[in-house]
Amino acid sequence: MNAIMTSEEMPQVAAPTAEREDLLRVDNVSLSFGGVKAITDISFDIKKGEIRAIIGPNGAGKTSMLNVINGFYHPQVGTITWQGQVRRKMKPYEAASQGIARTFQNVALFRGMTTLDNIMSGRSLKMRKNFFWQMMWYGPAREEEIEHRKKVEEIIDFLEIQAIRKTPVGRLPYGLQKRVELGRALAMEPDLLLLDEPMAGMNLEEKADMSRFILDVNQEFGTTIALIEHDMGVVMDLSDRVVVLDYGKKIADGPPEEVQASQAVIDAYLGVSH
Ligand SMILES: Nc1ncnc2c1ncn2[C@@H]1O[C@H](COP(=O)(O)OP(=O)(O)O)[C@@H](O)[C@H]1O
Ligand SMILES: [Mg+2]
Repeated sequence: MNAIMTSEEMPQVAAPTAEREDLLRVDNVSLSFGGVKAITDISFDIKKGEIRAIIGPNGAGKTSMLNVINGFYHPQVGTITWQGQVRRKMKPYEAASQGIARTFQNVALFRGMTTLDNIMSGRSLKMRKNFFWQMMWYGPAREEEIEHRKKVEEIIDFLEIQAIRKTPVGRLPYGLQKRVELGRALAMEPDLLLLDEPMAGMNLEEKADMSRFILDVNQEFGTTIALIEHDMGVVMDLSDRVVVLDYGKKIADGPPEEVQASQAVIDAYLGVSH
């Protein structure tokens, strides 16, 4: 590689997904709740820059998997490697401060707060470092506050939600609440964005909008995305690779066309007995 070239000048030829660097690895992870085995011996990787779909019937362990990745649950067996480092009992706020943001299957926003304030709350981890200066509203804190506001306004423009910036989110239709929640996750400027059914309960138009925003986040910001989604059309359109879970086990992993044609996947979705 020519050392004088800046990254902007370098020819942008994306490497095939399988050859890209791992951002996150899940190795032999098992998680149970009392007698319930939510996840059994699952391994897969998420490459830098890809959109990775996680699919499977209800109860397959998809949400539990995201909860393990963001430190909400600690698996009894197995390891999570984040940017080359094995993580030990990382807590959700630590995962967040290291660049892992998420949205929830059921929207989790401050319902009485405005769109603007909800998205601003996504900046709190970045602000905490300077909490003293924030309190003093002095010099560096003031500049920092301006910087945070600027970032939040950029996200509001990007998601085309200027018209609802002062509306309490509890009053917004569900599709827009999902979009605000995406905005709050983006405010953290994550390296990895975990989306738990971002299109559940949406109509066709809202789904098309959300799909476009997810693709734009991936392409414009270079954010790696792991996405749980039931709509196979959306999965086929958006994802580079798909991991399929069923009853807590991994039953397929690969490009969407390959996974969709897999007999194990077809059986799982048809409810063929195990
Ligand atoms: N906190 C919990 N306590 C007990 N069981 C749980 C808990 N979370 C998930 N489970 C169980 O783990 C299994 C997988 O659930 P989940 O990860 O939510 O599946 P999915 O998101 O694929 O629908 C289910 O049997 C569910 O009941
Ligand atoms: Mg779920």
